[in-house]
Amino acid sequence: MMFTTGVSLGTMQELEVMLVGSANIDLVIRTPRFPAPGETLQGSDFQTFAGGKGANQAVAIGKIGGNCGLIAKVGSDGFGKQLIESLRTNNVHINNVLQVSTESTGVAVITVDAQGQNTILVAQGTNGLLAPEEVRQGLSHASFKVLLVQLEIPMEAVMEASKFASGRIFILNPAPAQELSDELLSRVDYLTPNETEAHLLTGILPVDSKSCDQAAAVILAKGVKNVLFTLGSMGSYLANASGGRLFPAIRVTPIDTTAAGDAFNGAFAHYLASGETVDRSIRLANIAGALCTTKPGAQASMPSLAEILLHDQQAL
Ligand code: RIB
Repeated sequence: MMFTTGVSLGTMQELEVMLVGSANIDLVIRTPRFPAPGETLQGSDFQTFAGGKGANQAVAIGKIGGNCGLIAKVGSDGFGKQLIESLRTNNVHINNVLQVSTESTGVAVITVDAQGQNTILVAQGTNGLLAPEEVRQGLSHASFKVLLVQLEIPMEAVMEASKFASGRIFILNPAPAQELSDELLSRVDYLTPNETEAHLLTGILPVDSKSCDQAAAVILAKGVKNVLFTLGSMGSYLANASGGRLFPAIRVTPIDTTAAGDAFNGAFAHYLASGETVDRSIRLANIAGALCTTKPGAQASMPSLAEILLHDQQAL
């Protein structure tokens, strides 16, 4: 038997940022190096964390005091309950986090090496059941300034969300990497690919200003208004019709880069919605992304507002 809980309230919900995305439980093992195909390696420090790109980005906002809601789908199993609890305690509105009993909650198996780099393998689970009509219902019962979406849910759900872009700022984080239709891209205000995602979308790996500009030109030609590449320890690069510019990262010693992009996207959406300038929003998002790499886990590693502001002052 299937049951669904958490269906949208009839009243209009007032938010800064509305997210549509995934929620996963992350099963994480540290490894001295990544195993080769067919090889068995001894890892260590197994831990379970609340994760998933949509939920991570929502928690990134909630932890810095933003007012956000998430449209997502989890199972009615223990993992689903753990995710709802993490969202709730981190200040995320959960009335559109639906629970179903027909499928298991999404799971990510993650390995983190000695340099803090990771590999992530996701079993989509209930994320794959998020339906366009559920997205439509959640979005049409909320008022929000920024719409933030990733690609760990069905493309039909992403397309439905994109229909609500008009009159708002629509940020699409194209993760995990996949090809995107021109119809979707033409609705995007900010596309935020990392190097791998940019390479898949354009055939160009953005590693410096020249290659960023070349890759951005391909994306901008499809109607995207701004491209914001996340470039790890280099920082981020904004490109639009006025040209391109690098925003350098702050220096940190990373121990786990998992969810750094999520910290960046969440913070960027929050600060834009709060009325900060684009430049300042990128600067603070860079700090959030860098600080996320200094702690283990996904949602557990999202920085607080105090941590971000401290590093903002120190870097002046
Ligand atoms: O971006 C990091 C996230 O990717 C992890 O939390 C994992 O769940 C996958 O969705």
